[in-house]
Amino acid sequence: MIHTNLKKKFSCFILVFLLFAVICVWKKGNGYEALTLQAKAFQMPKSQEKVAMGPASQAVFSNSKQDLKEGIQSLSYSRVTAKVKPQPSYQVWDKDSTYSKVNPRLLKIWRNYLNMNKYKVSYKGPGPGVKFSVEALRCHLRDRVNVSMIEATDFPFNTTEWEGYLPKENFRTKAGPWHRCAVVSSAGSLKNSQLGREIDNHDAVLRFNGAPTDNFQQDVGTKTTIRLMNSQLVTTEKRFLKDSLYTEGILVVWDPSVYHVDIPKWYQKPDYNFFETYKSYRRLHPSQPFYILKPQMPWELWDIIQEISPDLIQPNPPSSGMLGIIMMMTLCDQVDIYEFLPSKRKTDVCYYHQKFFDSACTMGAYHPLLFEKNMVKHLNEGTDEDIYLFGKATLSGFRNIRC
Ligand SMILES: *[C@@H]1O[C@H](CO)[C@@H](O)[C@H](O)[C@H]1NC(C)=O
Ligand SMILES: *[C@@H]1O[C@H](CO)[C@@H](O)[C@H](O)[C@H]1NC(C)=O
Repeated sequence: MIHTNLKKKFSCFILVFLLFAVICVWKKGNGYEALTLQAKAFQMPKSQEKVAMGPASQAVFSNSKQDLKEGIQSLSYSRVTAKVKPQPSYQVWDKDSTYSKVNPRLLKIWRNYLNMNKYKVSYKGPGPGVKFSVEALRCHLRDRVNVSMIEATDFPFNTTEWEGYLPKENFRTKAGPWHRCAVVSSAGSLKNSQLGREIDNHDAVLRFNGAPTDNFQQDVGTKTTIRLMNSQLVTTEKRFLKDSLYTEGILVVWDPSVYHVDIPKWYQKPDYNFFETYKSYRRLHPSQPFYILKPQMPWELWDIIQEISPDLIQPNPPSSGMLGIIMMMTLCDQVDIYEFLPSKRKTDVCYYHQKFFDSACTMGAYHPLLFEKNMVKHLNEGTDEDIYLFGKATLSGFRNIRC
């Protein structure tokens, strides 16, 4: 009697155990499904986003047939690896972008600038299309691009007309050295990024032209350590002398010269004659450091961008964005760059603080922006995930590298 009861109990237990095991296995299978589904869901919004962003932006991410193919490839990839860890592939800036891949309008503008050659560029260096490792390119930039400011001893700034106007303290003793620096672009894609806190968490923050922080703190932060401005803004922006926006941090202005001319030649024929406004600003704010970038620097940088690009690049100076990146690389150990390489928030809206939009703002028309972005993508030591989610590229500065 007792014996059979025990037997019954035992088989009951076995049955329950088997049932439990079956449920477990079934659930696990479902979990696997859920993982692949998740991977699918991750792919989906991206392709929808691309459709929504229109033809100009589509081109950055290759054509849609290719997208589909890549989408399927990454899907099958995540299916295989889902058991281990889902590894979604992020579609970000292609470091081999060219205008012919991007859009016909910009291709035409690029050709027009090549014909115009406003700055009389006659590049005689190596290339085009010389291949550099990341380390070699970084050293090349460090050794060839001289980030220095006009000094009171440079003719014609040594004349009585200029006496007392240039800052007495050297730029390098005033700015840095810093450990972690942020370069904040003015891209429309910074809107709703919520990057403010992360940006402020750097030792120094560089911003451009009239990019505001008021009303945009959540997305772009509050700190401004250096503001790099072009001479056009200084010359034509009426608020420049009045707006408190400009009174924080170190100011640096740059003006494009004719290709590789010296300071006296440039001074006679600047792109924008900002010198009088500069003096006015200095009289109003004598204690704020305000430097003038030497006009050779943008062309020294341009030469390297041309050297490494397989295409001819626009014979116009690099963008303020690219100049700011190199400037911070000379002052910092590490430079985090926000929304220079566009994130998933990529938009044709040019600036986070304006409504104006044009695909040329991301791709470049006047500036060789596309080639600058190819270079930054090549130099990037961060992940594609950081670019995709935060528009963040991370470059080592020149301070601690060995060449
Ligand atoms: C860079 O500029 C500094 C200061 O003007 C100068 O002494 C130095 O020779 C320059 N270096 C190069 C490589 O041009
Ligand atoms: C300014 O610099 C030039 C060129 O170096 C020099 O010839 C001239 O004497 C300097 N002028 C003054 C007032 O120091």
